[in-house]
Amino acid sequence: MTFDTIIKGGSVVTPGGCIDADVAISGEKIAAVGTGLSKLAKANKVIDAKGHYVMPGVLDVHVHLELPFCGTTSSDDYITGTRAGARGGVTTVIDFAIPYAKKDGKYESLSEAADNWHKKAEGRSMIDYTFHMCITNWDSHASQIEGMVKRGFSTFKEFMIYASEGWQSDDRAMFGTLEKMNDLGSMLLVHAESSRVLDEMIARFHTPALMKKFGARLHAMSRPNVIEWEAIQRAVAWCDVTDGQLYIVHMSTAEGCDLIREAQSQGVPVLAETCAQYLVLDDSVFARKDGHLFACCPQLKKKADCERLWEGLQGGEVSVISTDTCTFTKAQKAMWKGDWTKIPMGMPGLETLLPVSYTHGILGKRLSMEQLVDCLCSNPAKIMGLYPRKGAIQVGSDADIAIIHPKKKIKVDPKKMETNADWSPFDGWELAGFSRTTLSRGTVIVDDYKVVGKAGHGKWLPRTGAGLRK
Ligand code: URP
Ligand code: ZN
Ligand code: ZN
Repeated sequence: MTFDTIIKGGSVVTPGGCIDADVAISGEKIAAVGTGLSKLAKANKVIDAKGHYVMPGVLDVHVHLELPFCGTTSSDDYITGTRAGARGGVTTVIDFAIPYAKKDGKYESLSEAADNWHKKAEGRSMIDYTFHMCITNWDSHASQIEGMVKRGFSTFKEFMIYASEGWQSDDRAMFGTLEKMNDLGSMLLVHAESSRVLDEMIARFHTPALMKKFGARLHAMSRPNVIEWEAIQRAVAWCDVTDGQLYIVHMSTAEGCDLIREAQSQGVPVLAETCAQYLVLDDSVFARKDGHLFACCPQLKKKADCERLWEGLQGGEVSVISTDTCTFTKAQKAMWKGDWTKIPMGMPGLETLLPVSYTHGILGKRLSMEQLVDCLCSNPAKIMGLYPRKGAIQVGSDADIAIIHPKKKIKVDPKKMETNADWSPFDGWELAGFSRTTLSRGTVIVDDYKVVGKAGHGKWLPRTGAGLRK
């Protein structure tokens, strides 16, 4: 028997735990996992993984590539964003296809939004991708949801803020969408922040005197934790009464974790993700001279929130670590000119998701390797309707694999990164967990820490079903 590739001698993180084994690949799929395969069978290519972890490729299920937002367009597109992902061991991304208001005030349809996002990704993405469909105009989009499920999209998204972008949903839309999620077996993702009080807080702080005194610190001062807490509890209430599946994106607060744990213990079908930045950064960064660079939405919180989010990952109420990648360069961030309400919100993250989570999760002794792989690979794949095609090293799964050294650290240097950002929130940090070798459907796209894959290798992933409901 001759395989295309055998990955030899690594510690393979399988759904059953870490085992010393070889992984054989035929075409795009994993064909066998076992000890001594390399002695029993031949292969056209042998990749030595001795002394390394062999883990499933990471799924970053929350990215925004080439997103028109905050008066500019995010600077990582499908070419640079997916190169960055590959270097960080990411082999699947899920972006958000957003229907915009047209000149006549009518909204693009969900189908048009999907077509627009396909155009951004097709022939450009190095890794596999799909989109969550954003509902930005309930009256026109409600009747289009079922058609999008038939077209292979099983997750939908609503924003409880962003009226100025034309994206905001209200309680009626959330309630109605969750009813449909129940009917269709699909899932609603929600950006949970309480808009009325947030807008009031921003207005109160938006004075020349306070801006002069506090600068970018106002970004954190105007968004106390209650803004997220109140919104999550409202979304959870609609989820409870409709029994529709709900997923809170980029959760950043301790209070959010408590709410989700409580709701899950009552049997409410709600899940939550956090992002790497909320685990390791806190709002003290806003006091830095370049603190405005760190503005994202929701904003970074306190150290105690970081610790509670780690506990949430350990306890299971937080299922996923993603990035909310929404990259803006220093020049784009400079648009703020001292007014924090004008900072384009978002950060680069794809390249550092696995290294940050590995270094602070595993080397920081907060998670086991199996837990880390659950949060970065298997849980996102299961929840987003991609398991076991993605998120597992087992026979029949796509051969999406990241091979990482357990200790070798690389200093984060924006000049040497694949992202289009000219800065990194983790600049100068020494991180282990960069991918030595990344395979996407059996093709090596990162070799010896260097990206060697081709733009356009990535394919769109149709999905049926989402959430953890059986
Ligand atoms: O700052 C962020 N997160 N930008 C992207 C938009 C969002 O809310 O996810
Ligand atoms: Zn959001
Ligand atoms: Zn986002």
